[in-house]
Amino acid sequence: MDKMKIVGGTPLHGKIYVSGAKNAALPLFAATILSKEPQVITNVPNLADIKSMSSLLECLGVKLASEQYVKGDYKSLKYNFDASGINSVVAPYELVNKMRASVLVLGPLLARFGEAKVSLPGGCAIGTRPVDLHLDALEKMGAVIDLDGGYINAKTKNGRLQGANIIFPKVTVGGTENIMMAATLAEGRTVIANAAQEPEIQDLAYYLNKMGAKIEGAGTSKIIIDGVEELHSAEHSVISDRIEAATYAIAAAITRGKLDILNATISTLEAVATVLTDCGIMIEEIDNGFIVDAEDSIIMGTDIMTEPYPGFPTDVQAQMMALMATANGASLVTESIFENRFMHVPELMRMGADINIHGNASAIIRGKNRLSGAEVMATDLRASSSLILAALAGRGETIINRIYHLDRGYEKIEEKLSACGANIERIK
Ligand code: UD1
Repeated sequence: MDKMKIVGGTPLHGKIYVSGAKNAALPLFAATILSKEPQVITNVPNLADIKSMSSLLECLGVKLASEQYVKGDYKSLKYNFDASGINSVVAPYELVNKMRASVLVLGPLLARFGEAKVSLPGGCAIGTRPVDLHLDALEKMGAVIDLDGGYINAKTKNGRLQGANIIFPKVTVGGTENIMMAATLAEGRTVIANAAQEPEIQDLAYYLNKMGAKIEGAGTSKIIIDGVEELHSAEHSVISDRIEAATYAIAAAITRGKLDILNATISTLEAVATVLTDCGIMIEEIDNGFIVDAEDSIIMGTDIMTEPYPGFPTDVQAQMMALMATANGASLVTESIFENRFMHVPELMRMGADINIHGNASAIIRGKNRLSGAEVMATDLRASSSLILAALAGRGETIINRIYHLDRGYEKIEEKLSACGANIERIK
């Protein structure tokens, strides 16, 4: 199993190109199921989760081909899809188990074929993460759902889903995406209230509309979808990854360095940018991205609470906690989205961080001037990046075990960081 070795203490300087967003690409891949006609998706990041979704689509009978796309210093992947020959509506346990987002094939399969059998994703390190809200909404659209042997067996009554009024009792990103995709081919109008407003939802709606769907309101809490008979060919470029951009912004801050973060859209990161600015870090928007300058910053502790977009993202909570561990004064971090998202805390404490967890949902961090290197273990994707950040700022050497989590969501993280002066090396 690969490990990461980091010797901390070097302020980072240089340019980092942000990749296409994993969390946007995954639903876009699932959406290709909705049409018989060829589809093209560009600016796809080269990540383990993308490979997992590709394997799942191939298992259903979708033909995929990828090629590298190079523009100046920036490389990404272009994928061609042909879903005309889908010959299975079963998403098996071995594939769904690898990645929760696999459940996003449920809505598209049901909408196009009137049936689907998808393994229940089960829990994960950050919580139980059920899919009950996806299933309740599909039932409102006329699906008959039966849970048996660890599988969701779903069927439509007369071959087609029906438009419905869906009010999500809790904001769900995946639920909103699954229902939005399912509703594109349903009969009549679907209205989703209390919809998730993430930029990835807007990106999915933009692509679906290019395919001929009729979606309005994506990016607000009310999305209206008028079902159509079929969807057509489209080409789409994935938006840039706001979580990756935020992670590198914090890398500049925690090492008291300065980075140009390129291919990034600061308007999707307002909550993070506001917190960083309040802590004393300079952020300046430039063409194609933004500059984060912490060279002369005295970073002050601050309080954050994770919330659905446009609030502070739960996917940046662990990284921000690493920064707070090196700030002046105390900070309070409240996690309101997932019930078990402090797995990074004991590992940060092994590096000398002073953190007290209260209940499941809040942590008080008393900042220290320097953390120190240690041997630590990555527990989930964003916890892994918080350990990388802490190690970059720490005194001495850190070894991070189980870094396969990182490869799920950060493309070439060690190359991007070492090009900016970090002493980081993957040990095979
Ligand atoms: C997506 C993101 C993930 C991010 C999360 C919250 C992708 C591939 N993943 O995950 O990185 O951390 O949004 O921003 O885009 N819930 C239920 N029942 C459901 C669905 C969700 O109780 O049927 C709960 C979850 O357990 C969680 C909360 O609702 O506590 C939010 O989950 P959701 O927004 O659905 O997250 P994901 O789509 O899984």
